Amino acid sequence: MEEKTVTFQDVLQNEEIRMYLEKGDKYIGTMGFTEHSMVHSQRVAKVAYEILLALKYDARTAELARIAGFMHDIGNVVNRIDHAQTGALMAYNILVRMGMSPREISKVIAAIGNHDEGTGTAVNQVSAALILSDKTDVRRSRVRNKDFSKFDIHDRVNYAVEHSKVSVLEGRVIQLELKIDTEICSLIDYFEIFLNRMIMCRRAADFLNGRFHLLINGTKMV
Ligand SMILES: [Fe+2]
Ligand SMILES: [Fe+2]
Repeated sequence: MEEKTVTFQDVLQNEEIRMYLEKGDKYIGTMGFTEHSMVHSQRVAKVAYEILLALKYDARTAELARIAGFMHDIGNVVNRIDHAQTGALMAYNILVRMGMSPREISKVIAAIGNHDEGTGTAVNQVSAALILSDKTDVRRSRVRNKDFSKFDIHDRVNYAVEHSKVSVLEGRVIQLELKIDTEICSLIDYFEIFLNRMIMCRRAADFLNGRFHLLINGTKMV
């Protein structure tokens, strides 16, 4: 197979990738998981890309993070359990066929395979950016359950987030700013769900020689 530069546009327009993402979102939706659709994939791609550019990494590394970001939840089509590792193997197969070089594929599949807080951690720059963008995607629109009385803690925590924003500030600070309605979810609930993810974000920021800050309702928590 001849090697070529696979762009984000190539990946974004790839029907096979889009099909697995759509079906994966549908299947895990039947199990009650929050939204993992094209909206999540595109947001994660964009934020991972912007973080690396803001931290002055080269454009191609940032583009690989964008590609990994778009594809990262592809493994949900097989099973939610171990979706990171399954997704990495699927991405390997697809990217080989698209002609990406083994050097670049290594970075993308390591990022996808290490994005889940149960089994992964930041292992390269692409992976650190993917973790920071994926774990900070908390928002009301990710809750699919329309019946408040049937909300689980994940639904409650996501629903309570009225506003969220990731920015890269002076001094390589990667900041997640949240506005949470504490009538819906207490900060205790929030931390029960997000503590592991926030620790993962802190390690990822360290990996990029930066720092992770979490601001909730104007108060710096981390
Ligand atoms: Fe995931
Ligand atoms: Fe995700």
